[in-house]
Amino acid sequence: MIWAEVYRCPNCNTEAPFSEYGFDFEDRSRADEATCPGCGQALNARRLARCVDDSDKVREAPVRTKHRGQRRDHDLSPPDLALIERIEGMPIPYWHPDGPMMGRETGKDSWGDMWRRGYHQGVRRVSDFYTKRTLWALAAALQFARELDTDPAVGHAVQQTIVNASINLTKMRRAYQGPIPLVLYLPRMRRESNVLKVLEARFRRGMEAARQIPTGGEVIISTQSSTCLPNIPDDCADYVFTDPPFGQNIIYSEVNFLWESWLGITTAAEHEAIVSKYQKKGVDEYEGLMSACFEEFRRILKPEHWMTVEFHNSSNDIWSAIQGALESSGFVVEDARILDKGQPSFKQASTENAVQQDLVISARNPQKRRRLRNSTQSKDGDAWEFVQARLTSLEAEEEAPGSPERTDRVLYSRMVQAFLREGLRVPISAAEFYRELAQRFHQRDGAYCLPPPDAP
Ligand SMILES: C[S@@+](CC[C@H](N)C(=O)[O-])C[C@H]1O[C@@H](n2cnc3c(N)ncnc32)[C@H](O)[C@@H]1O
Repeated sequence: MIWAEVYRCPNCNTEAPFSEYGFDFEDRSRADEATCPGCGQALNARRLARCVDDSDKVREAPVRTKHRGQRRDHDLSPPDLALIERIEGMPIPYWHPDGPMMGRETGKDSWGDMWRRGYHQGVRRVSDFYTKRTLWALAAALQFARELDTDPAVGHAVQQTIVNASINLTKMRRAYQGPIPLVLYLPRMRRESNVLKVLEARFRRGMEAARQIPTGGEVIISTQSSTCLPNIPDDCADYVFTDPPFGQNIIYSEVNFLWESWLGITTAAEHEAIVSKYQKKGVDEYEGLMSACFEEFRRILKPEHWMTVEFHNSSNDIWSAIQGALESSGFVVEDARILDKGQPSFKQASTENAVQQDLVISARNPQKRRRLRNSTQSKDGDAWEFVQARLTSLEAEEEAPGSPERTDRVLYSRMVQAFLREGLRVPISAAEFYRELAQRFHQRDGAYCLPPPDAP
């Protein structure tokens, strides 16, 4: 079923679902300009006002549906509408999460860093992210799983599959695409999927995956903050791999809050190593939390053994924090390499001034008595000396003029890599680097090169 938010035309006050302002269901596309279905006036879609009900929640209307066996969706019939109305009027007879977002009864709308004026209007509780039917079906499935008379491991896997499926069953799912990852964006037109079909497919895939997981061996998985690992003894680990939060980009405790609420256990945000306005954590707090994690990693790691840190950031302050945390915990950065993930993450691809590849930092745990080595402060000028030298060597290696190595994104990553290897602080943020690079060097089709020798 497709649902659309209801909007008001500023010209004639017509109230209609967003799909009626110029959405074509045949080719599933929106016209460049919205048109009011009442007065025919061309409108800027951004200027349409959301219509709200008595409790300030944005009104939504079911606009398309598809019955079993049908290939394409179509308008709803009167019996379809009557059924939805009947469901809306009935209480859900099973437990389902209904607490305030982030557990904050703020009395005002905003509940966190990911709250946005506009699309979160009236969205205050976990249940506001689900349609009534979805909430009901998920709650029933979970109750059934909890009451299963079976091996606890099987019961746990069944519950986990249902909670996992809930992630894609919120109102954040766009009408003809999935949800946008790592934000809590509510689109104007949403898809409500058939929960039973989704669960059936999930269980089938889960069974296939379970068959491929090797059994035997001794593995312990624990979920806890890395700032405090008292259950792991000193000097016992051969290797540590960590993929910590990249500073301020993603507020994990918020994006995970919806599915965690189904489990009834939510992230202990006070230990979350991020930069967050709502949690009152700046770069210093982030560095403190990352230092605590690295100290624990160093304590459990055998001397002269290694830790790999996957990381990247477009801000030199965050780089400084991570370098500072590594140093204060006593690790020695020995190498940094660029990780080619094949394709950038959604955030990396969609954020202006983002960096495109992650870096893999290799840090050694020196004999515990060794003195700490602090990285040296550096200046912006050092970055430009690096770029000059890098472009010179690309030219000497006859690297093609259109090589990705010459793009601003890769040059920034190469500069960070070189500074980490040298034990120098990263001197400049990506946005500033991209801007100045364009002023200092020649560029064609996004690839940078040295100015010709006779250039002024
Ligand atoms: C970049 S993500 C890692 C993603 C992971 N590698 C994956 O592929 O799913 C960083 C993770 O660190 C977690 N995190 C934040 N603070 C933490 C802490 N103090 N201890 C342990 N994990 C933490 C976040 O919740 C998030 O899941």
